[in-house]
Amino acid sequence: MNRPTRPPAFDRRHLLAIADLDPAEIAVLLDRADGYVDVNRQPEKKSARLRGRTVINLFFENSTRTRTSFELAGKRLGADTINMSVGSSSIKKGETLIDTAMTLNAMHPDVLVVRHPESGAVKLLSEKVEAAVINAGDGSHEHPTQALLDALTIRRRCGRLDGLVVAICGDILHSRVARSNIHLLNIMGASVRVVAPPTLLPMAIERLGVEVHHDMKSGLAEADIVMMLRLQLERMQGSYVPSTREYFRFYGLDSEKLAVAKPGALIMHPGPMNRGVEIDSAVADDIDRSVILDQVELGVAVRMACLDLLTPKIEATE
Ligand code: NCD
Repeated sequence: MNRPTRPPAFDRRHLLAIADLDPAEIAVLLDRADGYVDVNRQPEKKSARLRGRTVINLFFENSTRTRTSFELAGKRLGADTINMSVGSSSIKKGETLIDTAMTLNAMHPDVLVVRHPESGAVKLLSEKVEAAVINAGDGSHEHPTQALLDALTIRRRCGRLDGLVVAICGDILHSRVARSNIHLLNIMGASVRVVAPPTLLPMAIERLGVEVHHDMKSGLAEADIVMMLRLQLERMQGSYVPSTREYFRFYGLDSEKLAVAKPGALIMHPGPMNRGVEIDSAVADDIDRSVILDQVELGVAVRMACLDLLTPKIEATE
């Protein structure tokens, strides 16, 4: 009989939220991803780990890097990877999320990678299907693989996560990247600061275990890592900032504001960047400090690790 087994260190069916994970599970994901970074730097990148398996990328929201990254990750592991985006699917014809899920489920995919504009939609879908489900971003709730790739980027540069001071700056209110990062960094023992105008901070954010700053100078003082976020205009109804010019003056990262951080502090951004709004080109392109393209590179390795750990190996038994 063939019996699927899951590695004991990561005994989960789905990856829905960082808040669900413990430090050992995060370490297993990061260690596995670390190995794939080396594979991805070889001319021959393809393995047969997921040969015969099907991965469906189901994106109800636009995406460039996350979708491409998951597609490459699936292909490099030898899976059949299919992309479905809203514009070209029956969702446009009025099909519900659950009907779409059930339809795809009937085709026996092994993994569904799902991005959706509503918080909680990916979890709801995961309850209706047999496949492993990976949350590729649900509303302003969580984006677990982004936090994992950010953590891997930091860990590879600084050698650790615990004890570091990380300043997450900008539109925290609408950011699933911020939420997943706050959880992961706290779980792994880093100190997290959020830096934003009061209008761009969720109520009672300090309950997530962060220090709140409204001023870049105090928020960035002696920080090891400065993580900038995009103003998520598509999630805003009405105006949250007086103007993007004024926003840049007070909250945009430039070399003057960065000067108060630790010497050599790393600059991060999940992309897509709005240059001249939340970040100045001179710091975004600073080859010594900016790790923005490393984040993109390591994203593929992290997604390979997630697909690998969520897909049980078939072990032949008597
Ligand atoms: C982020 C997202 O979609 O949440 N982007 C990404 O996944 N790289 C952040 C953003 O859109 O600003």
